Amino acid sequence: MSLKTTNPTTTKAWNALKKHFQSIQHTTIKELFDQNSNRFEQFSIQYPSLLVDYSKNRINTETIQLLVDLAKEMEVDQSIQRMFEGDIINVTENRAVLHTALRNRSDEEVLVNGNDVMPQINEVLEQMKSFSNKVISGEWKGFTGKEITDVVNIGIGGSDLGPMMVTEALKHYKTRLNIHFVSNIDGTHLVETLKDVNPETTLFIVASKTFTTQETMTNAFSAKEWFLNSDAQESDVAKHFVAVSTSNEEVTKFGIDIANMFQFWDWVGGRYSLWSAIGLSIVLGIGFDNFEELLEGAHEMDIHFRTETLDQNIPVVLALLGIWYNNFFEADSIALLPYEQYLSRFAAYFQQGDMESNGKSIDRNGKKVDYETGPIIWGEPGTNGQHAFYQLIHQGTKLIPADFIAGANSLNIIGDHHAKLLSNFFAQTEALAFGKDKQTVIAELEKAGKTKEEIDLLTPFKVFEGNRPTNSILYEVLKPRVLGNLIAMYEHKIFVQGIIWNIFSFDQWGVELGKQLANVILPELSNDEQITSHDSSTNGLINAYKYWKK
Ligand code: F6P
Repeated sequence: MSLKTTNPTTTKAWNALKKHFQSIQHTTIKELFDQNSNRFEQFSIQYPSLLVDYSKNRINTETIQLLVDLAKEMEVDQSIQRMFEGDIINVTENRAVLHTALRNRSDEEVLVNGNDVMPQINEVLEQMKSFSNKVISGEWKGFTGKEITDVVNIGIGGSDLGPMMVTEALKHYKTRLNIHFVSNIDGTHLVETLKDVNPETTLFIVASKTFTTQETMTNAFSAKEWFLNSDAQESDVAKHFVAVSTSNEEVTKFGIDIANMFQFWDWVGGRYSLWSAIGLSIVLGIGFDNFEELLEGAHEMDIHFRTETLDQNIPVVLALLGIWYNNFFEADSIALLPYEQYLSRFAAYFQQGDMESNGKSIDRNGKKVDYETGPIIWGEPGTNGQHAFYQLIHQGTKLIPADFIAGANSLNIIGDHHAKLLSNFFAQTEALAFGKDKQTVIAELEKAGKTKEEIDLLTPFKVFEGNRPTNSILYEVLKPRVLGNLIAMYEHKIFVQGIIWNIFSFDQWGVELGKQLANVILPELSNDEQITSHDSSTNGLINAYKYWKK
């Protein structure tokens, strides 16, 4: 069954939302709270380990009702089932989308073209378990008989960002191994990483779905060269290089024995692959039991997403709020603001997750869309962001809806740091919603002994309009299970938005052109000839490079 291909702006619900927007757009969050003392109870959901408070949004019950109507008209419910059931919903690549099967902890079978994929998933999980146990315990030895101390994951995009984000997020649960990530083709990344490791005690994971990505293959070849420049022999490669890929053929071509390969499948999208063998660096970094807990957390969110009614469904509600701001308030971006240092790479991870998924302008009919699709995702952990870009969120001209994310407890209890951190979280969402009005500013300035002239001068700058929407996402403490909940929650939010925007969220053709042109330009850089085959800017830049290059 294929996904619905209706332009969302032609639905009844969209038109009702347009009218509703006219009536509510000037109502402030403060007014909404004044009108309804139950907003928190009404506009918050708790499941499984997350409390999602979305009451500080520019919405009322009618807004939610109409947004849910939109989801219904765009067949979100049926689309969710199609994804879980392995329908070919990634049409342009002719693939199912089944990252949810990778974390399926139930006994339910998952069929792709009539075949249950669960046995092969569980087999690879067993392989990851047994391998990681050997490396962590020290049973797996390097070529001089020493234990492995360092793991270098070589991958990029989905083969890097997920494992890196999770390894950082769950550093508290660290094994004795040091995990490093090399992604950039800029040689500096590899060289600086290799300065800290020893070939005798380092394991390289070459992680690439296709095993043809230029960055990863170039870094992997250079890492192998570095390894062989030590006392190691070609026959020692098997002890120090393993591969994670969908392609046996490419892995063999590279020179890694298939026995040292961890398989995944084309129905796992790169940016949704941390749950697959791509998570091997995570397993080595936090141990298999913790990885399993991460999978369980994601599975819990999958069950919620699949079974809960639309208006109580966390990913659906977050997606609908995103559409409300993106398409009606014309907000361009969303800030992800974790008040949790361990989540420092969370926004970077979802930049790929969201922008590579929904950064599309062709609809499921192959026609150019006439409405906005995916937002710009950005963010940094609090409180650092407060001292950097929050000024613009509070008083700038742009509307930037933000998600605040935090744990009620810290994994590192030290003095009153955590209470101070959370007081900032609560204060920021309060200030963004309710601001500070003119009378309050004047009263404060009077109290500070300012003259009438000073008060007149300063007041306009000190007024905060407020009315800036936020979602607050709280959990008890950052455990692998909670992180699984959180990641799956955002994955499904992205899915719902793609369904409603009538786009294909699981391909990424937009990254191809740059790759193709780089392949044309690369040979042109290897000689001293003046280049004239491009536009004047590109020619000028290439020729300037050649002039300077040593
Ligand atoms: O950036 C394009 C992309 O194809 C991503 O979708 C993917 O995660 C990344 O490149 C890496 O691809 P691979 O895992 O095949 O090396």
